[in-house]
Amino acid sequence: MNNSKQTNPSVTLHEASSQYQSNTHKIKWLAKTIVTLTVSLFLFSCGSKQVENNEEEVFVSELLGKMTLEEKIGQLHQITSQWNMTGPAPEYAQGHEERLKSGLVGSMLNVIGAEATLNAQKLVVENSRLGIPLIFGYDVIHGYRTMFPVPLGEAASWDPEVVKLSASIAALESAAAGLHWTFAPMMDVGRDARWGRVMEGAGEDPYLASILSAARVRGFQGENLADQKTIAACAKHFAGYAFAESGKDYNNVDISNATLHNVILPPFKASTAAGAATYMNSFNTIQGLPASANEYIQRQLLKGDWGFDGFVVSDWNSIGEMVAHGAARDLKEAANMAINAGSDMDMEGNAYTNFLAELVEEGKVDIKIIDDAVKRVLTVKYRLGLFEDPYKYSNKEWEKNTLYSLGNKSAARKVARESIVLLKNEENKLPISKSIKSIAVVGPLADDKDAPLGNWRADAVANSAVSVLEGIKARAGKDVTINYAKGCDLVTSERNFAGEIKFNTTDRTGFAAAVAAAKKSEIVLLAIGEDCFQSGEGRSQADIRLKGLQMELFDAIYAVNPNIVIVLMNGRPVAIPELDAKAPAILETWFLGSEAGHAIADVVFGDHNPSGKLPMTFPRSNGQIPIYYNAMNTGRPGPKNEVFWSHYTDQSNAPLYPFGYGLSYTDFKYDNLAVDSSDPSAIQVSVTLQNTGAVTGTEVAQLYIRDQFASLVRPIKELKGFQKVTLKSGESKDLTFTLTEKELGFYDNEGSYKVEDGMFDVMVGTNSTDLLTETFLLTAEAVQ
Ligand code: BGC
Repeated sequence: MNNSKQTNPSVTLHEASSQYQSNTHKIKWLAKTIVTLTVSLFLFSCGSKQVENNEEEVFVSELLGKMTLEEKIGQLHQITSQWNMTGPAPEYAQGHEERLKSGLVGSMLNVIGAEATLNAQKLVVENSRLGIPLIFGYDVIHGYRTMFPVPLGEAASWDPEVVKLSASIAALESAAAGLHWTFAPMMDVGRDARWGRVMEGAGEDPYLASILSAARVRGFQGENLADQKTIAACAKHFAGYAFAESGKDYNNVDISNATLHNVILPPFKASTAAGAATYMNSFNTIQGLPASANEYIQRQLLKGDWGFDGFVVSDWNSIGEMVAHGAARDLKEAANMAINAGSDMDMEGNAYTNFLAELVEEGKVDIKIIDDAVKRVLTVKYRLGLFEDPYKYSNKEWEKNTLYSLGNKSAARKVARESIVLLKNEENKLPISKSIKSIAVVGPLADDKDAPLGNWRADAVANSAVSVLEGIKARAGKDVTINYAKGCDLVTSERNFAGEIKFNTTDRTGFAAAVAAAKKSEIVLLAIGEDCFQSGEGRSQADIRLKGLQMELFDAIYAVNPNIVIVLMNGRPVAIPELDAKAPAILETWFLGSEAGHAIADVVFGDHNPSGKLPMTFPRSNGQIPIYYNAMNTGRPGPKNEVFWSHYTDQSNAPLYPFGYGLSYTDFKYDNLAVDSSDPSAIQVSVTLQNTGAVTGTEVAQLYIRDQFASLVRPIKELKGFQKVTLKSGESKDLTFTLTEKELGFYDNEGSYKVEDGMFDVMVGTNSTDLLTETFLLTAEAVQ
């Protein structure tokens, strides 16, 4: 089961008929003529980059000049693949084929595979007047056929190279399957674990999310969009979507301007700087106005201040949804508001295709606005090389040799290992002792070959992942007895991208076998957590504790063998205080992708020393949500002996596991924290990190600051640097971090960036809670 909104596999485009007149020649001729002209015009006066830009500009302008209004609007119209070329089309898709042939569609989503994309492209290129190729987009969120960990899991690697590697292979496979464009990365900074889409992002911190989102963009796009192994990225969802009230998907968002600028926008800005080719806006309102109609963020900031020259696609019918929001009277008004606000392409909303021409004729939409949007779409197509060869990505042979290759799988295993977080390891339960003779592998997710693929699994083959049981068996060898029992089912419903989940709350028939397996084994690996479709779009939860009978199963096993390692699978932080209190070891493995079982075995047996750190705070309970490390101080921070301070009377303020937390099989010591502020433009922070344990290990050293006093209240901690360092047992290293005005300032409510003088705390350590602290003064002279 892959992403639901994709084409019905039985609905494929029929072979393009022999009477198609190829427009490819026309396009190539046009491209060549323009190139020659431009090169001769500019060769002597410009550098080569400028020549390229001018070639692009001249080409796009010339083409635009040939287009009718209808054809222009067509470029802004995106449709999904679900229409039937050989039988009756669903009602809403009737006429799609004719529109494609007439060049009245600019993009399709959910057409996947070399053959289907080739056929759809031919339909357009060989029939339409100008033969402008389609751009094919798809949700390639964590791999195309070879699955990598869900993005939240990858973020736990705190490693831009790892994240980039994953995106580059996803791009390679997607390109080989005829795709040009992924609707990723999602870079919504999320603080609410109830929101199911936190699984698609990089967690709660703007600094970490900025670095990782930019790395993802670089991974998808490589050095050059025209390179056949790369695809265009899409920075989404612009903006504020993760701040849906009460974590309920699509819900209202109410944020201050300072939060917008300091928390939500930084990853977008970083991704624009990294060259993100496209943007997607979001379903939510921002201060009362739907994002699709938000001129301030789309025109003023993105296309203005940030200099973004790609295009913005709406989210799925987000323009149409403005009517339901109560922001537009009808679809026509929604179209008017959205195009004027800078939403360039309408995904499945039919707002532009139905009303833009009328709006132009009525003088409500200036043709310059349409031209600008169309230019942006054509420019991205040009950069992808589609005018040179519209079919270049659609090659069945290349597709066959590329998807799910050994190399791709081995990269997936590497990324999966780096994403695992060791949450608890009492008495060094892990890695498993070399002399062990029997292991129970138990739990509803223990031999699940599908769950590790996670949600948003693109073209993954159902049940294709290496399960925990398979991974453990493969590594344990013949001398270790593996006693497997499922214990219970987690869900009773079919796995399905769009359907609600029903949990098993009654069937305990498998408990006895699980208890027996645990009883006769030295150690138990208990694989529990979430169903893979429990997180993702539309998957908000009011309760993030483990569902169904899982805790009961844990208790039953614990009663006979407390030597339990919990192998957690989940796409969001879960509230597991009881497990933390009892189980001696807990491994956070998210949904690790195709090679999950092998990666888990690598860690369980100590072939890989875990180094992942949580990119999101894990609360103790639902009631603590939203809980995040970079909160503001209140006027009553406490603690106090009486009740009048900011706290709960029935629970600690502290999370179960803080942001940045994660253990290793070795120990690290931080020492000698020092700050040199003699050059206020580049404050030097140094610390000594030592591996004081017995084995080689990798630590993510984290640096936080606190601006003690400012014109706007600042967070009690803000991540402003980290380094991932591998040290042998006993080895130590001096680490240096540099703080400049980029790290020390903040945006005010007018969106202006400022650095203010005063005292700052600098904190360095192993997570956002266990830190060494120093202070320094940023003088007034320094910030002038
Ligand atoms: C989601 C987007 C996704 C789009 C296309 C929307 O419902 O919000 O993230 O890219 O559908 O599938």
